[in-house]
Amino acid sequence: MDCKKVIADYWNLRSSTYTNGENGFDEEERIVWRRMLENSLPSGQKLKVLDVGTGPGFLALLFAEMGHEVTAVDISLGMLEKARNNAKSLGIKVDFFHGDAENLPFEDCYFDLVVNKYLLWTLPRPKAAVQEWRRVLKPGGKVFAIDGNWFNPRPDKRIKRWITGVVNTDMNKNPPRSFFDEFYGPIRNSLPLYEDISPENISVVFSKMGFANTAVNPLQEVQEFKKSKLSFTQRFLRDTSIFLITGQKTA
Ligand SMILES: C[S@@+](CC[C@H](N)C(=O)[O-])C[C@H]1O[C@@H](n2cnc3c(N)ncnc32)[C@H](O)[C@@H]1O
Repeated sequence: MDCKKVIADYWNLRSSTYTNGENGFDEEERIVWRRMLENSLPSGQKLKVLDVGTGPGFLALLFAEMGHEVTAVDISLGMLEKARNNAKSLGIKVDFFHGDAENLPFEDCYFDLVVNKYLLWTLPRPKAAVQEWRRVLKPGGKVFAIDGNWFNPRPDKRIKRWITGVVNTDMNKNPPRSFFDEFYGPIRNSLPLYEDISPENISVVFSKMGFANTAVNPLQEVQEFKKSKLSFTQRFLRDTSIFLITGQKTA
């Protein structure tokens, strides 16, 4: 089975609703994320930033608003169309490319910062991707990877996801769980981080692939903001923690 084709097909179909749900472009939420990103970088520098698996362009547009020169890449043409429309409506310039996180269409040592959000869990070869991110970074450049353990196999987590799938289905926001399973069910065993993603194992991959100064940020302010927007029931059902792992290319 061609995993990458299945993944691109899923996200092409999902692109029409993805930004209508919890991954929306709510201005209040964007401000919280932007503050976190600004605090994670030295101030006053204009960086060449690459957002990998940009989807509707959430991180790409934030970094561009912060004054950086941003390039973004995604395997889904549907998502790229969304991202281009979002950039247009915000009046922001980002260079968007169609491409694969594990085989990037960019030259060596070009970027100062490679970022990605909610991408690693869906990659068939995460180590190859991390190696590529290192290749396109300048020496001294940094990587920021944001993710969460969305498909934790623990029985209590599975039950919560099942209930969420039943109570939270809205074709304009969250398609039914069966829609996701139709695509990811047959390929999930080919995705090494699908059920087993944590700050610890991403840090190990980063170190193995030659990144130094690896650090974990628990994204406390972002998580508190997200929680504050949920009802009591939603809070109980959606208990996945997100995190940011950073690393640096030293040579
Ligand atoms: C969960 S979405 C996250 C989108 C965006 N980063 C965000 O946080 O809103 C995952 C994105 O990764 C993209 N993607 C999946 N596999 C990819 C790959 N091998 N190369 C590039 N993009 C990929 C999908 O098309 C989708 O847009």
